[in-house]
Amino acid sequence: MDRAKVDATTTLIERTRYLLNQNRVEAGSFSYTRPAPSTYEHQWLWDSCFHAIIYRWFDLHMASEELLSVVQHQVREGPDTGMIPHMTYWQGGGEALWGRAERSIITQPPLVGVAAWMVYGHGGDRTLLAELYEPLCAYHDWFDRRRDPDRDHLVSLIHPWESGWDAAPRWDDQLGLTHPSDADSRQARLDLVAVIRQFDCDAAALGEAGYFHVEAVDFNAIRAADLEALARIAAMLGYNAEARSWEGRAESVRQAVRNRLLRPQPCDLAGIDERPLLHLSAAPFVALFGGCADDAQAAALHDTLRHTSFWTPFPIATTPTTDAAFDPDHYWRGNVWLNVNWLIVQGLRRYGFSETARVLTECSIQLASQFDFWEYYNPLSGQGYGSFPHSWSGLILDLALDS
Ligand code: GLC
Repeated sequence: MDRAKVDATTTLIERTRYLLNQNRVEAGSFSYTRPAPSTYEHQWLWDSCFHAIIYRWFDLHMASEELLSVVQHQVREGPDTGMIPHMTYWQGGGEALWGRAERSIITQPPLVGVAAWMVYGHGGDRTLLAELYEPLCAYHDWFDRRRDPDRDHLVSLIHPWESGWDAAPRWDDQLGLTHPSDADSRQARLDLVAVIRQFDCDAAALGEAGYFHVEAVDFNAIRAADLEALARIAAMLGYNAEARSWEGRAESVRQAVRNRLLRPQPCDLAGIDERPLLHLSAAPFVALFGGCADDAQAAALHDTLRHTSFWTPFPIATTPTTDAAFDPDHYWRGNVWLNVNWLIVQGLRRYGFSETARVLTECSIQLASQFDFWEYYNPLSGQGYGSFPHSWSGLILDLALDS
């Protein structure tokens, strides 16, 4: 590395370390990193996985802490045994919304296995894998048992918050919304929590009753990657038969995504009658992250990604600019999210689209360097929005160092 590059890398590491340290919270004998001050004081599942991936470059202890703390409130009794909650309220406060103080009753994209494997691969120790193995097995068993009522290897989400794409236009129809304001969209999500509580989180019953029940392309692709990581973890721990079984399950999910969610065209499937939701979004690009696309599908996804409706002045727009719902200034209505960019870059690298991966990496670093670590960004102007400073935008460090 030349001198200028070494200096730039050192600066980026220091900026990111400062970002995460600012947001670190001590909770009894655990520590976690909040996504951001005030708006997001609690612990979020996929955020913590992203934080671990960032921490591995400069603080292996905190990388492990993020993952160990996030599984502490895994459900241990009742029908949802094994579920890892999307929010942990270490200081309490969940009661009014969820009916319990310490955790939510829904999940988020499963990346604990992926993150654990990446931490391990970067000097993390085997004890972390050993401590996470049982929780991970229980988590993926829960998905199969509770979230795949039709046994087609595609798990269903029962709330948009589970996707991590809270207010995206791709969920409007399912929530009965047309061009909603931010407030209306939020109210619909809050109302749905009340319904989920009435149904005791039973995905099959919610689907039967016509409520939100979606087999999402990105979520299932992420799950395939997590199962793949779990297979590697099992093999590393010497559980070879289990490793083969997890890999078999990963392959079943990859095939289901390939055959049902990418063919004949990318979609999510809604309801128990599996109606294709053809709303265009960046979510299908995440199929590459899970290794779900065949070569022709991957090439088509790559072409779409490079189209100016997604490849905006500051890529990637999560809703394309050509969509009637595109609204670059509003939460999840087309903004750039650096965690989504990170998932897409990993997928592009996996499929050998190295030049596009390189350019998207550079654009992502440029965005956060120029405008700082915001929660999300306007894809046309680069302006940052939402909470600040937002921890997962530090993923640009991982993009820069892991190329
Ligand atoms: C927002 C995002 C969600 C994220 C959370 C914390 O709710 O939509 O994906 O986990 O913020 O950053």
